[in-house]
Order: sequence, then C-alpha cells, then structure tokens
Amino acid sequence: MSKSTLVLFLIPAFLMAQFGPPPAKPAGPWMNKSLSPDERAALLVRQLTFDEKISLVHGTGWDALFGEMPKHSLGGAGFVPGVPRLGIPDLQMADAAVGVARGAVFGRYSTPLPSAVAEAASWNLAIARAYGALIGRELHDQGYNMGLGGGVNLTREPRNGRNFEYQGEDPILAGKMAGAEMKALSEQGVIPHIKHYAINDQENGRNFVNMKIDKRAMQESDLLAFEIGIEEGGVGAVMCSYNMVNGAYACENDYLLNQVLKKQWGFQGFVVSDWGGTHSSAKAANAGLDMEQPGSDYFGAPLKKDVDSGTVSAARLDDMVHRILRAEFAAGLYDRPADRQVPDVFHGLEVAQRVAEQGSVLLKNAGGQLPLSPSVRSIAVIGSHADVGVLSGGGSAQVDPPGGNAVANAGQAVFGAVVWHPSSPLKAIRAKAPHAKVDYDSGVDPAAAAKLAKASDVAIVFVNQPSSEGADMASLALPGDQDALVSAVAAANPHTIVVLETGGAVTMPWIDGVSAALEAWFPGIRGGEAIANILFGDVNPSARLPLTFPRSEQDLPRPKLAEQPPARDGDMVDFFPGFKVNGRTFDVAYDEGLKVGYKWYEAQGKPPLFPFGFGLSYTTYAYSDLKVTPASVTFSVKNTGARAGAETAQIYATLPSAAGEPFHRLVAWQKVELAAGETKSVTLALDPHYLSIFNADRNAWELLPGSYTVYAGGSSRDLPLHAAMEITGSR
Ligand code: BGC
Repeated sequence: MSKSTLVLFLIPAFLMAQFGPPPAKPAGPWMNKSLSPDERAALLVRQLTFDEKISLVHGTGWDALFGEMPKHSLGGAGFVPGVPRLGIPDLQMADAAVGVARGAVFGRYSTPLPSAVAEAASWNLAIARAYGALIGRELHDQGYNMGLGGGVNLTREPRNGRNFEYQGEDPILAGKMAGAEMKALSEQGVIPHIKHYAINDQENGRNFVNMKIDKRAMQESDLLAFEIGIEEGGVGAVMCSYNMVNGAYACENDYLLNQVLKKQWGFQGFVVSDWGGTHSSAKAANAGLDMEQPGSDYFGAPLKKDVDSGTVSAARLDDMVHRILRAEFAAGLYDRPADRQVPDVFHGLEVAQRVAEQGSVLLKNAGGQLPLSPSVRSIAVIGSHADVGVLSGGGSAQVDPPGGNAVANAGQAVFGAVVWHPSSPLKAIRAKAPHAKVDYDSGVDPAAAAKLAKASDVAIVFVNQPSSEGADMASLALPGDQDALVSAVAAANPHTIVVLETGGAVTMPWIDGVSAALEAWFPGIRGGEAIANILFGDVNPSARLPLTFPRSEQDLPRPKLAEQPPARDGDMVDFFPGFKVNGRTFDVAYDEGLKVGYKWYEAQGKPPLFPFGFGLSYTTYAYSDLKVTPASVTFSVKNTGARAGAETAQIYATLPSAAGEPFHRLVAWQKVELAAGETKSVTLALDPHYLSIFNADRNAWELLPGSYTVYAGGSSRDLPLHAAMEITGSR
C-alpha cells in the first residue's frame, strides 16, 4: 500500500476514533419545527433521566483546553456532550470575541477580525451585523454551535487589558452594537452569547475583586448595555463573570442573575459561568446559574447530591436544562446542525478589511496632511513591526493568524506570545505609492529613525500598546521608548503621521508636535491594507471614538489602577489543577457611579484629549433645523466639503434637574452617507427607556416629568444644535 493510500485510510479511522459514528438522525415530537423553542424544550426535558439532566449542566473539565481533548470535542474552550439517544447535540463552544479562537485545532482557518472596540468605533449597525454574521458562519463551518463572544463590559477602567474585546464606554452604543452582532451570529445557526456579566472591568485580581457599586449606577450604565444587547440580540446564553459584585460572586449573585437578568429583563436563555467562575453548587444554582464551565466541580456530583437532598429543587434542575435546550432550539441547532467545511477565507478577509476601514478613527489632521498624494516622493515608515504585520489582542480572544505570527519571539503575553498578524502596512503603503522611495526603520533607535524621517517627505510612525486578557496595562503611556520615538521623528519631520495600534485609550504627550494621528486599534488580518487605504484617501474615515481618551491618568476616576494586595500566608489557592493564584479578596468602589466615560469628564469639568464620539473625516459636515418631540428628533445634516463621506450624527440629552445627572447622555445616533454638497433630513426615534432613570427605592425605571434638552452634532463635545423638550406626567 502506498503512503498516500495509507493516509487516506488513516484519516477516517482517526475521525471515527475521535468523533465516533455519525449521530443518528434525531426523532421525536420535539423535532416538530412548528412548535416554539419553549414547547420543544419542554417535550425534551420530560424524556431525560436525572443523570442525563446533570450531564447537560456542566462541561468536561479543563482538559478541553489544556490536556487531552475529550472524545468528540472539537478543541474549543468548552464542551458538553449531548444525549445521542434523544438527538441532543454536543455543545461545542469556541471563544469568539474577535473571530473563532482555536479554530485551527483541526486545521481550519478563522478570520482574525479587528478588535470589537474597532467594531464599536464604526458606530455602524451594518458593520456589527457583518462582524457577527462572519463569526457565526465560521463557527458553524468549523462545527461549533456556540461562540463565547459578545463582550459588552463598559470601559470604566481604561487600563483594563480586555477593553479591546468590548464595545466602549456608553451603554446604548455598546448594547446596540453587541445586540446587532449577536442577532446576525444567531442567524448562522449558532447560540448567541454575551459576556462578562457583570462589572468585570479590570483583569487585576479578577477572580477575587469585589466591585462595590450602587444599584442605580449599575442599572443605568453597565447593566443597561447587557439589557439592550441581550434583548436586541435575542441572546441565548449569558456568561457570568469572575468577580464579586457587592459581596457575592457574579456566578452566585441572586440580584444579578435571578432578580435582574431573569426577572426584570425576562431572560429565557441560560447562564454559563466563566471558566472557573463557579464557587458553589446549591448557592449558585439557586441564585440563577444554569451551567458550570469548564468542569463539574460543583454542578456534577455535588449538584446531584443537592437535588437528591432537596437543597436544589428538581424543578430548578429542570429549569436549568430547559433553558439550555430552549437556547439550542432557538438557534436552530436541531434544524440546522453544524456542517463542517473550510470557511470562505476570501469573504473573511473582505469583512475584516471593511471593519478596519470603518473602525479606524482619524484623530488629528493638521493642515490637511492626509490624505497622502500617490505622487509623494519619499516616505519613512517607522516602528511597531510595520514592515511585517499589525498587532493583535491577546488571551482567549486571540485568533490564530493564518500564515503564522509575523513577529516570532515578540514577547510574552499572558496567554502565549504577543501575536502580530501578517498584514504588512509597509507593503500596503508601497503599493499605494509605487513611484515613491518607501523605507522602513524599526524605531528601536529614535536617532536613526529621526535621520530617516528627516531625509523623507513624510514620516509615518507606527506605535502600539499590547494588551491581553489576564493583565491590565501598567499605565496609559505607550510602553518602551515609543513616546520618545514619536517626539524625535516629529522634531525631524514636520509631516509626521502617527498610526496607533492599541486596545483602547493611550496618552499622547507628543500630539501637538505631529501633523496627523490615526487610531487603528488592533486592526485584524487586513489591517495594513485598511490603514493604507485611509492614509491615501481611498477610504474616507468615518469612525468615531467609542471611549474617551483622557489627557492624563490624573483625570481618571481612579488615577491609580486598583490592585490586588500581595498574597499573605495561606492566600494561594488552586485556580485549576496545578495552577495556584493569589486568592486574597479586595474591594474596588465605583464611587463615580453612573458617571462612566464622557459623563465623568463632563460632570468634573475635565477636558479630555479626544472626546467620546469624536473622529475626523476628509470632508466636513454642518447641522441645521433641529426639531424635537418626546418621541423623535429631526434635523438636517449637510456634507459641506468636496468629497463623499459618512457622518455619525449623534443625539444627546440632559434630564430634568430632579434626575441629579449633571451631564448629557447619548440617546440615539445614525450614520448618514452624504455625497459632496448633499443634505439629508434625518428623523430618529427617541426611546423613552434611554431617557429614563432607575429609581432604586422603587426598583423600577422612571421617565421623569420636566424639561429635557436635546442636542445634535458630531461628537459628545461638538453639539451645535439644541432644543428644549417637555415631558409631562411621570411614566
Ligand atoms: C475568559 C472568557 C473565555 C473563557 C474560555 C475565560 O478565562 O474570561 O472570556 O470565554 O476563559 O476560554
């Protein structure tokens, strides 16, 4: 037998060993598609034995990630074996914050998308849908039926290492973007999911930190983002977070899970713990947790015992299983099972580029420095490995770069190496200016970089701040000598453009000395091409900041990152087998309350470096004719420049003084495409929920009577129009 024939025999043998025989075609009345997901789940729960029910509410252990893969697992972060006799599918979960992580375990490709913060910066629901549809499709293509994405924690802590996985600092923007993403993802036959519920806004001590925050502040900010995302996304699963909130772990927090998520919002899906975030059996189950991941420490034998003894009722176990099965039916897992195939790489690349083009924010453009002319004679490209790639965010959101890490041994992130996606800005810039002399300098020696800059017409300095799950940034300053590098280059060349690859806000002591700055975030597998398209004007930038860039850390609600105190004797605890961590608990008080992001800067009278909602275009816009009723806002926006563009028109409101909110809040927005010289009249609905406050005494939302002011304009700090609006009678 030839070698290749032998391989042909061995592949099916391997697949049979790993996956077993193909599953029997599911049969039973629950397969009737004309029944609702609830009816179908109820029929199926009745068929299950006690042991089968227990088997559906936990995973198979950390091995799914770090050891030998459980049989049938595709190698994603989580795995729950199904019940073949009833046709209940295995639940195959992959991390999917910015693309399918660990998709390559079986040699499949996944698209590394730009970070979620770039998606948010597009302020474009169509981009959010494209983002979700792509992730959903690639999950489905690779056999996964649940993605662990949809990060919607607000940027309360700008140094949080996971801000790149989230949608910025405003609950309405974040919730609507995550909701649109998850809706589109679910249409691909995958369970839509949102995380990390809730107030999980820093990585430092994340498993032991107790977030102290009052109910009104939570409801009007952090929780509102989840509420909107869950409702608009038709979300089937919510991941509770590692941290404690007001003294109880999020995964056994009755207020968060039972009272708010399930009762107040009417969530019908299931709650899954973050990996290792379950701390009890009966307490967690009775507080509303439905599934433990990744293992069975609490929801295996201990839960079985608790149900036997009645500490957890049999009805509650049925409810847990019902919620899981309901989410599976609702997402089409039974009617449209995963069908493994190689994802459409080309479509992925196109979507990734579109998101990066619409998500990169032009922060400064003095004297019309940009766009660059293709006839520029010489360009110095400097720093940040821009010769070979663009930076990726790290941790569980890390997507394997097709082509491999563009920078080997680039340093250690919390989960493995710092990864650079092989999309070369240098090559893309060269392609735009084929007749120019385009040279690269690593930026390691600022003097050498300045020399090259001096000898060039234009200098483009790439700077970065790596960030990853598991650690926060030490500060908002660019790490290493990058500030000195930019200053040296800017001193040598008055046409210095800075391109930032960061997961969120950084400080820019050099900003007055450079002529242009573009925030590209972690721009994904087509980042280089997208950046070049913006720099040369093939794409007119239209993105807006989804979070504030402060002038200095002194201006933050907490100038210093709240850190876990060092471990004392006996503080080291097993996080998972063989891995001990400092288990000392500590409090972080969110005394700024509902003043998150721009609301804080406005209330404190602190001008930011770049405000929320800000971003430049290669054209200009003007607003006029604002008319406001309690139900809607109408205004006109005109493209007053010479080229087509898309303006992100933003509507903010201030509430009657009885609300006690000395700042305005975003209540609506729309991205408006405008040809040069074109004017459009735009009408946006005003959702009364977004104008309301949460009355903690009554435990209810309330639309206060009184005078509101409604503002329209192009950023939270550029609101040329305003009009008064009266609301009569409390609602
Ligand atoms: C992260 C989650 C992730 C899970 C599975 C956890 O450490 O916090 O976001 O989905 O691991 O990889």
